[in-house]
Amino acid sequence: MYSEKVMDHFSNPRNMGEIENADGVGTVGNAKCGDIMRIYLKVENDIVQDVKFKTFGCGAAVATSSMATELVMGKTIQEALHVTNAAVMEALDGLPKAKVHCSLLAEEALHAALWDYAQKNDMIIEGLEPPKADVHDGEEEEEF
Ligand code: FES
Repeated sequence: MYSEKVMDHFSNPRNMGEIENADGVGTVGNAKCGDIMRIYLKVENDIVQDVKFKTFGCGAAVATSSMATELVMGKTIQEALHVTNAAVMEALDGLPKAKVHCSLLAEEALHAALWDYAQKNDMIIEGLEPPKADVHDGEEEEEF
């Protein structure tokens, strides 16, 4: 039921961990299942130099976070903004219908991290909406 790519990214997640002094951090949660995803960005000259994630959640959420980090690495901020859940799912050769919502977490966490980056740098990223469910505020030191 899962593609080989999903199984690969679930078994060997890329870019798992955290970035100290990240330029942008986004944390989102899925109200239905309670899973949480956090994405860290290091940005230099408008390019994503490094990206890491931590996911407290299901296998599909781990696989989508892993693929999302691969897709945004080395991209410009604007290009990173276009890494949607549809793009992540396509790169993973699809997800079972019941797991599509898991891929939304990756997009939302990435957007929340970009939003945080923009806020910290007093800039506006065109087309970027404020995060719906950023639970990052006041939880910077929280471990999960
Ligand atoms: Fe919660 Fe997949 S079941 S993110």
